[in-house]
Amino acid sequence: MNVLIPNCSKMIGVMPYTCRSALRQIRALHTATVQNAEAKLKTFSIYRWNPDKPDEKPYMQKYKVDLNACGPMVLDALIKIKNEMDPTLTFRRSCREGICGSCAMNIGGTNTLACISKIDKSTSTSCEVYPLPHMYIVKDLVPDLNNFYDQYRSIQPWLQRKDMKETGSQQYLQSVEDRKKLDGLYECILCACCSTSCPSYWWNGDKYLGPAVLMQAYRWIIDSRDTQAKERLEKLKDPFSVYRCHTIMNCTRTCPKGLNPGKAIAEIKKLLANVSQKPQPDLTASGSS
Ligand code: SF4
Ligand code: SF4
Ligand code: FES
Repeated sequence: MNVLIPNCSKMIGVMPYTCRSALRQIRALHTATVQNAEAKLKTFSIYRWNPDKPDEKPYMQKYKVDLNACGPMVLDALIKIKNEMDPTLTFRRSCREGICGSCAMNIGGTNTLACISKIDKSTSTSCEVYPLPHMYIVKDLVPDLNNFYDQYRSIQPWLQRKDMKETGSQQYLQSVEDRKKLDGLYECILCACCSTSCPSYWWNGDKYLGPAVLMQAYRWIIDSRDTQAKERLEKLKDPFSVYRCHTIMNCTRTCPKGLNPGKAIAEIKKLLANVSQKPQPDLTASGSS
C-alpha cells in the first residue's frame, strides 16, 4: 500500500484535512500489517484466587496472548486478557508508566512493576505472574496492603518542626547541598516490591517495618528542615522495627526504580548506634513565602 504523506509543517492549532487523511492511511496500514502477521502466541500463567469461593484453592490459569496484537509490556498482556478473554481477572493498575506503584507483582520470579516490565518475546517459555509474595491476597493479583500503609503512617511521613509556622506565611529554607541528601529517597513510589522481597519482612511483617517504610523514615530523619530526628529515631529503637534487617539486600536488588533501601537502613542503624550524627542544616532561617 502506498502512503502519501503531505507536508504538515505548517500545522498550527487545527490539523488540516490532508494530515488527518495521511494519519488515517498510516493507521490502516499498521492495522493491516498486524492482521496479516502470523499469530505469535505466548502463554501467560497467572495466579488466581477468588474470595467468593473460599473452598477453592489458589491455582495457576493459562492464557495464550498473540504478541503481534498486544503492547510490549506485561501490563498490556494483562489488560488484553481482561478485556478480550476473561473479565474476572483482577489486578491493580493506574498510570501505566512506573509512577503510581499500583501494578507491583511478581513476574518471572522478580517483584516488579507490570507496566515497565517487557514481555519476553520467546514463545517457548511461559510468563509466570504471581501477586507480591507473602502477603494476604484480596483477589488474584491484588495483595492486601493495609499493614504496609499502617506501617507507613506510623513513621509520620510529613515535615515536623519545633517552630512550625502558620501554613502559607513562611517557607523553610534549604541549601542545594542539603536538598541533594533527599535524592534517591524521595523518588520512592511505595510500590512495596522491596518490602515483599525481604525474608525478614516475610517472617516478621507485623513488627519489622521493612525496607520501603524505613527508607521513608530515613528520608524525614535526614531532611535538614525537619527538627524531629531525635524523636523519630527514638521510636525506631526496639528489637524489631529496624534491627530485623540482616543486610540480605534483596530489597535493593528488586527495586524497579533503582533505589537503595538497604543503604538507607544502614544509615539509620549508624544514627541509632551514634556512629554518625545528623549534620546541622546549612540554612536555619525561615524566609517569606
Ligand atoms: S537489606 Fe534488610 S531490608 Fe533489605 S532485604 Fe535484606 S533484610 Fe530486608
Ligand atoms: S524503594 Fe523501590 S521497591 Fe521499595 S517501595 Fe520504593 S520504589 Fe518500590
Ligand atoms: S500502573 Fe502505575 S506503576 Fe504500573
